[in-house]
Amino acid sequence: MRKKRIIAGFSILVSALLFTQADTASAVKKSYQYGDVLMNASIEGKSVSAVTFRHWTHRDKYTCRLCHVDLEFSQYPNDTMVLEEDIREGRYCGACHDGKEAFQFKKCAECHPQNKAEAKKEMKQAKKAFYKFKKKMPAATYGNKIDWMQAEADGKIKPKDSLPGITAVRNAAMVNTRDEPRVSKLPGLPDIIFSHSKHVVWNGCGMCHPDIYAIETGKTKMSMKEIIAGEFCGRCHGTVAFPLNDCLRCHSKPVSMK
Ligand code: HEC
Ligand code: HEC
Ligand code: HEC
Ligand code: HEC
Ligand code: HEC
Ligand code: HEC
Repeated sequence: MRKKRIIAGFSILVSALLFTQADTASAVKKSYQYGDVLMNASIEGKSVSAVTFRHWTHRDKYTCRLCHVDLEFSQYPNDTMVLEEDIREGRYCGACHDGKEAFQFKKCAECHPQNKAEAKKEMKQAKKAFYKFKKKMPAATYGNKIDWMQAEADGKIKPKDSLPGITAVRNAAMVNTRDEPRVSKLPGLPDIIFSHSKHVVWNGCGMCHPDIYAIETGKTKMSMKEIIAGEFCGRCHGTVAFPLNDCLRCHSKPVSMK
């Protein structure tokens, strides 16, 4: 009995420690900036300014895999090295910013603010637009403070999963509804249930297999420390999808009271 209590106390302690780490990692960003990526890898030495890519203005309209698999955007920040020529020829941002799907590429200043004052003004506008958008969406506690899955379930957003001429025909056989159980390895802390069916809606398969996870249950070794450092589940959770503060959304399997 006593031993059990010590273990329980220990697990609360470890959780508290991890919580502080996860908290400081994602508390840096305000809800309207959560998921923003500063892109400045390829402008070095050029006369244009850095670009802020906002996930919240795009993920309401498109699935993750459309950009990260079909259009080949990296899942690491500032890693794609987009060039002006790419966009002009219809790759990356240019696949949509063509004046039809979204505003014209020629409006350079929409992506490259011309000076600091303009950058500041743009940021203020984005903030205002965010709060207006958020009001219409189901609420969550962390990250963008928007429950994106509920928003989709309610039909409030309808992310497109394809673009003509770009998306190859989706393989209808590539469905997976299996839940992957993962053991949290800490007594008293609920185990994790990873739901394939819920992730495939947004991510397809290619964002996770074969690069991040082995296609075999239990094969991928992962720890909370690596997740907080931005690997495995932490590649998306803590950057774009709901952050790690939301412990019980992943550690969701009821603990048995043996
Ligand atoms: C839809 C958004 C968007 C628009 C519109 C846009 N760009 Fe860019 N541009 C980017 C992104 C993203 C990068 C990559 C930034 C980085 O990683 O540093 C980039 C990079 C660049 C670079 C540096 C790389 C290189 O090719 O030398 C130049 C120069 C550039 N853009 C010029 C322009 C000009 C000129 C226009 C208007 C005709 C324009 N861009 C319009 C998004 C845009
Ligand atoms: C309209 C295109 C688009 C959509 C839709 C999109 N992304 Fe991204 N994502 C990007 C771009 C562009 C970057 C920046 C890549 C770079 O800088 O090289 C990025 C970066 C990321 C990063 C790295 C961010 C960081 O700060 O570490 C992650 C993780 C990510 N996206 C996951 C997702 C997930 C999950 C979804 C779906 C909920 C999603 N993305 C939807 C275009 C998109
Ligand atoms: C899959 C299509 C798609 C891709 C890819 C895409 N966008 Fe967009 N983007 C849109 C749509 C649609 C809108 C909203 C309609 C509009 O403003 O024309 C938008 C709006 C924006 C806006 C105005 C709202 C905001 O976020 O401040 C910016 C800036 C922007 N995109 C930048 C980018 C950059 C930079 C990239 C590439 C790194 C990119 N977009 C890639 C479709 C796309
Ligand atoms: C968001 C990430 C993610 C996405 C998207 C995803 N998976 Fe997985 N998949 C996982 C994880 C995590 C595991 C468990 C790996 C482990 O335990 O080492 C897994 C395991 C598997 C396994 C092994 C199951 C077993 O019986 O051993 C198969 C098969 C699989 N995935 C197929 C798919 C297919 C097909 C798709 C697309 C329809 C897909 N996955 C999409 C994360 C993902
Ligand atoms: C995005 C999903 C997710 C969230 C959110 C999450 N965890 Fe985890 N956690 C995992 C996964 C996956 C493992 C690894 C399980 C395994 O070994 O297979 C794990 C393992 C752990 C472990 C076991 C020891 C270790 O370091 O691996 C502890 C303790 C833990 N998490 C605590 C927490 C706490 C505290 C929070 C909230 C601050 C949290 N987790 C939030 C997915 C998550
Ligand atoms: C490629 C990006 C990506 C990776 C990797 C990823 N997730 Fe997610 N996950 C998402 C997105 C997107 C959502 C939708 C909710 C949101 O955006 O906040 C989501 C939703 C969830 C949910 C809520 C759905 C539900 O079942 O109720 C859980 C739990 C979850 N993820 C756990 C995990 C765990 C555990 C891992 C690692 C084994 C993981 N995720 C890896 C992108 C990802």
